Amino acid sequence: MGKFIIQGQAKLSGEIKVMGAKNAALKIIPAALLSSEKITITNLPDIEDINKAISMIKALGAKVKLKNRTLEIQALNISNNKINIEQASKFRASIMFVGPILARFGEVKFPHPGGCVIGAGGRPIDLFLDGFKKLGAKIDEKENYYHLKAKKLNGCEHFFPIISVTATEALMMTAVLAEGITILKNCACEPEIKALADYLNEQGAKINGAGTSTITIAGVKNIHAGQFKVMPDRIETGSFAIMAAAAKSEIMITKCDPEHIQVLLNIFNKIGIPFKQGSDWLRIGPAKRIKSYSIKTHEYPGFPTDLQPLYTVLMTQTQGTSLIHETIYNRRLLYTDMLIQMGADITMCDPHRVVVNGPSKLIGKKLTSPDLRAGIAMIIAGLIAEGKTEIDNIYQIDRGYENIDKRLRALGADIERID
Ligand code: EPU
Repeated sequence: MGKFIIQGQAKLSGEIKVMGAKNAALKIIPAALLSSEKITITNLPDIEDINKAISMIKALGAKVKLKNRTLEIQALNISNNKINIEQASKFRASIMFVGPILARFGEVKFPHPGGCVIGAGGRPIDLFLDGFKKLGAKIDEKENYYHLKAKKLNGCEHFFPIISVTATEALMMTAVLAEGITILKNCACEPEIKALADYLNEQGAKINGAGTSTITIAGVKNIHAGQFKVMPDRIETGSFAIMAAAAKSEIMITKCDPEHIQVLLNIFNKIGIPFKQGSDWLRIGPAKRIKSYSIKTHEYPGFPTDLQPLYTVLMTQTQGTSLIHETIYNRRLLYTDMLIQMGADITMCDPHRVVVNGPSKLIGKKLTSPDLRAGIAMIIAGLIAEGKTEIDNIYQIDRGYENIDKRLRALGADIERID
């Protein structure tokens, strides 16, 4: 498996473009299964997770054409309602294929989806199963797969006991082809959910309230052909903003939507990181003295859990003490061990909270990327550390950040990929 070798402390400068959002693209690909007509998706990021989603939809029998970040999918004759067990069990977002197949074909078999290691005991799917059941599916749990069947899906009123992005999207998509009205309560409000609903509405769906905590869906018979432009990745935007701040560098981030990371920019104002923003750009200025500031992760528009590991690296460079409280996942602070090895002063209070005392001088070390976001956080740590940092298991980083080494080299970073 590949490695990144970073020689730290290079000043970064220049422009970096944000790619299409992984977590929007990952939902629109399975949404293509709701229709027998063609969908054209543009601004698709070229990353591992998207390649997996494309190969899953192909395996189901959809016709697929990919050229220059534009993906055409036509799911006219789906030959197979069985999701490939091997593929899906290694890929968390495979769960997004279940609802559309069930809605269109009345039956689907799938394994427990795999994915990265941020939740204890794997990541559960109870919220999805409860929702599908409420819509009328019968669930048969076999040894290594689930078998869902529904002669007909019926609208229902459903309350999510935990706010979940993918469960909200999955139920919303499935209810589009159910009969009658579905009301989903305590929904996630991430912008990717609204983008998915806007697209489906343009193609004939009747979804109201996406982007708020209550979503109402009036079932329809068909979804038509359409075009979907993948929105800029807000987590990439935030990643580059934090990277610039931690490296005390000036970076221009383009093709982004700064509105989507307001919570982070609000903190930048408080801790002394200069920035300017336009509707689709963000310039982070070179920070001098950065103050510490505590955060608690929260569903959108609160502080994103996906930026938490990167923010923790930033806090190691600030004056004072901060508390990082991870409220969404219970295994998403384990990477702090690696920062401690690099010289950071971090104390773990419990699986959800660490205290960071800054500033610390970080020293390059041999690290491993446990998951996507901790992986990019290790890159940032390597960029600001003294000496050489080696990061392995970089497949995890390639899952979500396109050509990250090449794009960072263009900013002046000394980062090399070794295959
Ligand atoms: N949860 C359950 N049961 C379920 C589903 C989720 O208990 O059936 C719990 C989870 O364990 C977690 C909480 O609900 O404690 C929220 O998780 P959520 O379901 O919202 O996460 P997700 O939908 O699986 C998406 C993103 C994640 C991002 C989270 C939170 C996608 C494909 N993934 O995951 O992105 O961290 O929302 O914002 O949209 C990433 O990009 O690196 C990433 C992990």
